[in-house]
Amino acid sequence: VKLRVRIANKDDRMLTFIWANDPLNRRMSLKDGLSTPDTHMRFFFAELNDGESLYLIIEGLDKETWTPIGKARFYKDGMMSVMLDKNYRGRHLASPAISEVIDFARKTFPVDTVIAKILSVNTPSIKAFKKAGFVFAGEDVCGGKPCVRYKRIFK
Ligand SMILES: CC(C)(COP(=O)(O)OP(=O)(O)OC[C@H]1O[C@@H](n2cnc3c(N)ncnc32)[C@H](O)[C@@H]1OP(=O)(O)O)[C@@H](O)C(=O)NCCC(=O)NCCS
Repeated sequence: VKLRVRIANKDDRMLTFIWANDPLNRRMSLKDGLSTPDTHMRFFFAELNDGESLYLIIEGLDKETWTPIGKARFYKDGMMSVMLDKNYRGRHLASPAISEVIDFARKTFPVDTVIAKILSVNTPSIKAFKKAGFVFAGEDVCGGKPCVRYKRIFK
């Protein structure tokens, strides 16, 4: 599957709402709680326009059509997160998606260090970030749960 990345827009509000409440995404999220449509829309539009971060949609070329297959957040300080739609998980797309996201986002935020904070139980995510060139950068606590920091340095 070929991948590309674009900035999210208002037409992504329903899909991102569905993704926000995806059970695995909820379990692996650093923050707790389900989103109601109202809270999702409020946060989504605020995040689209906050000037501090990019809200990115990852698209895959599936049967000759570019289809949204996941999303990523990339912050001015180099922090990032990623998720893939459940229908596209388990296909080794995470690490190429992470690399595409970084290439895209560093054009706007040219940071030297990209950081991911990942719950320690989230093996697929840790493996995917490692495969994308990240190295272990320490243990932490995220929302009361054990998590790890991984970083990738560009110089
Ligand atoms: C994290 C996420 C993007 C990874 O994508 P994925 O499609 O599940 O993972 P991939 O198929 O690309 O596989 C990544 C690696 O994890 C391994 N893996 C996948 N599922 C696994 C599992 N259940 N247990 C152990 N390893 C697993 C794969 O074998 C692969 O490793 P390898 O290349 O050494 O074989 C996806 O699981 C997701 O969207 N999760 C919910 C959101 C989330 O947790 N985001 C991370 C926060 S930063």
